[in-house]
Amino acid sequence: MGKNPTIRNERVYLARMARPLREKLRVARYIPQDARTVLDVGCANGAITIALAKLFSRKQFIGIDLNESFVSRAQEQARKAGVGNVRFEKIYLRDLLARSERFGAVLFVSVLHEFYAYGEGISSVLKALADAHELLRKGGEIVIRDMILHEYAKHTSFQVDAIIAKVRARRRWRRAIRDFEGAFGKLNTLYQLNHFLLKYMYEENWDRECREPYVPVTFEQYEQLFDLLGMELQLEDSYLIDFLRTKWKRDFGLTDDELEGFRSTGFLVAKKAAPRP
Ligand SMILES: C[S@@+](CC[C@H](N)C(=O)[O-])C[C@H]1O[C@@H](n2cnc3c(N)ncnc32)[C@H](O)[C@@H]1O
Repeated sequence: MGKNPTIRNERVYLARMARPLREKLRVARYIPQDARTVLDVGCANGAITIALAKLFSRKQFIGIDLNESFVSRAQEQARKAGVGNVRFEKIYLRDLLARSERFGAVLFVSVLHEFYAYGEGISSVLKALADAHELLRKGGEIVIRDMILHEYAKHTSFQVDAIIAKVRARRRWRRAIRDFEGAFGKLNTLYQLNHFLLKYMYEENWDRECREPYVPVTFEQYEQLFDLLGMELQLEDSYLIDFLRTKWKRDFGLTDDELEGFRSTGFLVAKKAAPRP
């Protein structure tokens, strides 16, 4: 995969990435205590990698990204902050396999949906996880944070009709709804509605944002991928961040009850087990 075509204005893109930095740092909870080296895949300008390196000063961090200018910014930020236990490289994940370095944890923070969208769909996600698995030491962990929904959300319209009616009633977002339905089909399930709510506000780059699948891999599919790799699932969690809950209430008049089944953020942690006999 080459340069991410969504990034027309790097400053705007990075500012958007940085907004939920504190929330993203929840990933720190899932870095194994005994991991000595941690790989952060798709590190962008290194904001998270550097924050983690500051939190875990005894661990070594490496952040990789394919965007050269992001990597330069990350290197510069680390230098300015005087953080010595982190380095950044522009390199494909799979090219790390040729080296001998192995990791106690591999992080994918808000990045696997981009592997899907700008790579070859689920095949690119599977390849990334397989590469990460090979790059782990035994007992090491893959940590994923992304927008992730459950499979059942694709099939349920339970309580969804009333919410869709509220969403459709807002003239302000009619064009966004029309474009979304043009790209992904009718807004008629929990999954479709949740997906729409995650993206309608990104007007500054709408033509591309609209078409990017934000929630392409479900928890159940990740479970299948981990199972294929012989990895042991350690944690699965998802929730709706306060910022979006408040925004969706304000923009569409939705209630907490109505938002019960909606999610913005998912985490998965899986451990590399001993090889199967
Ligand atoms: C949405 S940003 C997330 C950045 C950072 N992890 C964060 O959460 O703030 C996704 C990043 O992944 C990078 N990326 C996308 N596909 C990649 C790939 N195949 N290999 C490495 N980096 C990739 C993009 O260049 C971008 O910097």
